[in-house]
Amino acid sequence: MHESSGTARVPYYLPSGTEIDLFETAADAALPLMVVGPTGCGKTRFVEYMAGRLGRSLRVVVGNDDTTTADLLGRYLVHGADVKWHDGPVTTAVRHGELCYVDEVVEIRREAIAALHPLADHRRSLHLDRTGETVVAPSGFALVCSYNPARVFGFKELRPAFSQRFVTIPLTYLPPDRETEVIVSECGVDDPVAARLVGLATSLRNGLRGENCDPPSTRLLVSAAHLIRRGLEERIAVEACILAPLASGRDGQTAALREIAAAV
Ligand SMILES: Nc1ncnc2c1ncn2[C@@H]1O[C@H](COP(=O)(O)OP(=O)(O)OP(=O)(O)O)[C@@H](O)[C@H]1O
Ligand SMILES: [Mg+2]
Repeated sequence: MHESSGTARVPYYLPSGTEIDLFETAADAALPLMVVGPTGCGKTRFVEYMAGRLGRSLRVVVGNDDTTTADLLGRYLVHGADVKWHDGPVTTAVRHGELCYVDEVVEIRREAIAALHPLADHRRSLHLDRTGETVVAPSGFALVCSYNPARVFGFKELRPAFSQRFVTIPLTYLPPDRETEVIVSECGVDDPVAARLVGLATSLRNGLRGENCDPPSTRLLVSAAHLIRRGLEERIAVEACILAPLASGRDGQTAALREIAAAV
């Protein structure tokens, strides 16, 4: 699990719809938010942007299947002859009224998730079993979680008791003209280059529908555009940044992807 904090600058974010207004209104109403969408579609960038826009410190917790309640809320640690309580990142975010972003929330085991239930409803509080303390969130605090629904199966599914506490914002890849705008702004490539990359991504997304292969993300296009901007041949950048990561070393898939790419 990784954790970071600090007052965020406002990064570049191009909205796809009403998500900025929805986020602001929910935060104003003290309701928690769940941002869902495929990999590399802008979930993290959106949350970073909102933290900057609202002038809140951002504390990021990335969940995994080893994340325990103590990792989130805190634990006693031995200091010489003393045993001292150390707040976990969620408790720290609550005490300081920060924007607490729990990424990959579906990876976290249910016992640990259950500790967040009172924080995600009208109580807006955490109960620290080990110390007996209840920490109530100040008005500046906001809880935002995110995950990729395509990666959710079986026991990883969020329980309704958790997911139904959240205002949910589904994000997906931007429409082609807006995704092109993002590539140009992020990487400084010319419009036609960005449009070609987005055209390829659109064909791959359509061509791969129903296949056992993830669609190319905006992140992949941004990587390819960065290399092209630095003078690398477009064909090589596309192969290395888009086709090869999608195929993940499976030869059959690389051939199928090349076929779709060649037809663009
Ligand atoms: N709407 C957008 N505005 C600006 N940049 C965007 C937008 N959508 C995607 N990007 C670009 O795509 C990159 C990947 O986005 P981001 O890291 O937010 O994806 P993510 O949805 O959090 O993916 P993951 O689920 O893999 O963590 C960003 O670093 C940014 O360059
Ligand atoms: Mg992310």
